[in-house]
Amino acid sequence: MREQEQKDQFGDKKLVVITGASSGLGRKTTAALLRSGQYHVIGAVRDLDKMEAVAELDGFAMDRFTPMQCELNSFDSVRKFCNDVKAFKKSKPIDRLICNAGVYQPSLPYPKWSADGHEQTMQINFLSHFLMISEFLEDMTKSSDPRITMVGSVTGNDNTVGGGGVYPIADLKELDGFKAGFKNPISMADGYGFIGAKAYKDSKLCLMMMANVLHAKYHKLTGIAFSSMYPGCIAESPLFREKRAWFRKYFPLFMKYITGGFVGEEEAGLRLFQVAHDPRCSKSGVYWGWNGGPREGRGSEALEKDGQISGSGGAGGGWDSIFENDQSGKVLDVELGFKLFQYATDITGAEWPKLKVVTSPCPTLKVIGAISKQMIEKEELQRMKERPGFNADGTPIKLTTAKKTKLVAQKVVGGVVGNTLGRVARFANKRLLGKLPEEALKGSFMDEKAETKEDKVSELVEAKAKPEIAEEAKPSDNKITVVEEAAVIFDAAGVYKSDTQLIEEAISRQVFSSSEKKDSQVAA
Ligand SMILES: NC(=O)c1ccc[n+]([C@@H]2O[C@H](COP(=O)([O-])OP(=O)(O)OC[C@H]3O[C@@H](n4cnc5c(N)ncnc54)[C@H](OP(=O)(O)O)[C@@H]3O)[C@@H](O)[C@H]2O)c1
Repeated sequence: MREQEQKDQFGDKKLVVITGASSGLGRKTTAALLRSGQYHVIGAVRDLDKMEAVAELDGFAMDRFTPMQCELNSFDSVRKFCNDVKAFKKSKPIDRLICNAGVYQPSLPYPKWSADGHEQTMQINFLSHFLMISEFLEDMTKSSDPRITMVGSVTGNDNTVGGGGVYPIADLKELDGFKAGFKNPISMADGYGFIGAKAYKDSKLCLMMMANVLHAKYHKLTGIAFSSMYPGCIAESPLFREKRAWFRKYFPLFMKYITGGFVGEEEAGLRLFQVAHDPRCSKSGVYWGWNGGPREGRGSEALEKDGQISGSGGAGGGWDSIFENDQSGKVLDVELGFKLFQYATDITGAEWPKLKVVTSPCPTLKVIGAISKQMIEKEELQRMKERPGFNADGTPIKLTTAKKTKLVAQKVVGGVVGNTLGRVARFANKRLLGKLPEEALKGSFMDEKAETKEDKVSELVEAKAKPEIAEEAKPSDNKITVVEEAAVIFDAAGVYKSDTQLIEEAISRQVFSSSEKKDSQVAA
């Protein structure tokens, strides 16, 4: 039924969600996906009218393209978009999520704030995509080849000239801004002063780190391939709309003829399409690049080919020049990455699914699994009634030496009392059941029963209480150590042989003397 429903709606097409389909890289990628005939594309865009015009201009196949409103500057809008997608696609899983949309506002002298009160570059580029991933993650596990791709940048990867050689440098420091909630007036992830260009670079660093964190956290559990990519410098893209006029005129020329780092929108679109489409790109934890790092002396070749050269500036190079690009130490910082995951979860209110690790198609095993799950939960709840070392509010108890000594003493007394009660029980058993028969002691079960450490300890505790037996037993070196420990325990707890004897005698009097009296009356 479900399969039929999916077939009716999507045929055998894979389902792609891409943000920012109405301009630049996203627009060209969407066009390539639709041209292939193998995808149904949902374009997440802030301006549906613009999207409609672009789709018409570019001749998008509208039976396979569904634009939906999504303002990344608002978490409510992102959540609504995700719900709209779920309602639209029904049981069909999402096969690809492409986190592409972004803003670059280097000329802003002061931060601008999102609907949620966060610095908007970071919210649009990173936080909203983070939230979107959490919303779609579980659904995507149902796809046979799910992929989530972040559009990164050299500017977020400071092991490159573009990322590490031009101030400001992407750097999250200790993420103090995020940790403190990242709300107006806190505008930067590291909590320091605002620079528009740094906000952009930091957001790209966050995206690229997140691809690695999600890979580590979820790839094996979900089968989703998490990756990031750098499309090359699309110097003519509207991304640079906020740069001054002279920059917009000369930057593409500079990238084309001097650095060779230029890539046209069309080719960049094919690259992002490749990450979604090429079977090689089902590999997770990768930062994809095309054909080498920056190269010098490309001027003449660039002039001959009108700037469309291969193998330059992380740009150039077609389908087969794809490679697994190097990532900077900052992008690979897993410890900070996990903090980033936690803070971003707190800021966005993202809810990550609790994924099932063990699945079985066998119905009997499922039933057994369900029962044992309940039992395990019950036992675990029982165990969790105690939380030694923690206060009731979950904060760790700060122990002074005196408190520590008291706790140890309490524990030791508890242990000794437990041991004493064990002794008393054995003693009671002996009185009630009599001595163990010789055969039982010498039987094969006795021989085969492995001596446990607990047996040794209680035996030796008894030995301490009855020195004459300890002498007979001639303990091994190992036992001597335990006896010494037991001695320490007894001394520390202030429980002595005489105490245990007193307890035994008291129990003996109360329990057995009355029953012995009755026995003798019966016998009489
Ligand atoms: N250009 C480059 O050289 C370069 C290099 C490396 C990485 N990138 C990355 O590539 C991605 C695409 O950039 P581009 O060059 O294609 O720039 P672009 O043409 O400006 O495209 C950006 C897209 O993001 C959308 N967007 C912006 N703010 C949004 C918001 N609040 N809510 C929803 N959508 C929003 C835009 O929507 P509208 O169409 O409504 O404006 C547009 O579709 C970005 O992530 C960028 O960082 C670009």
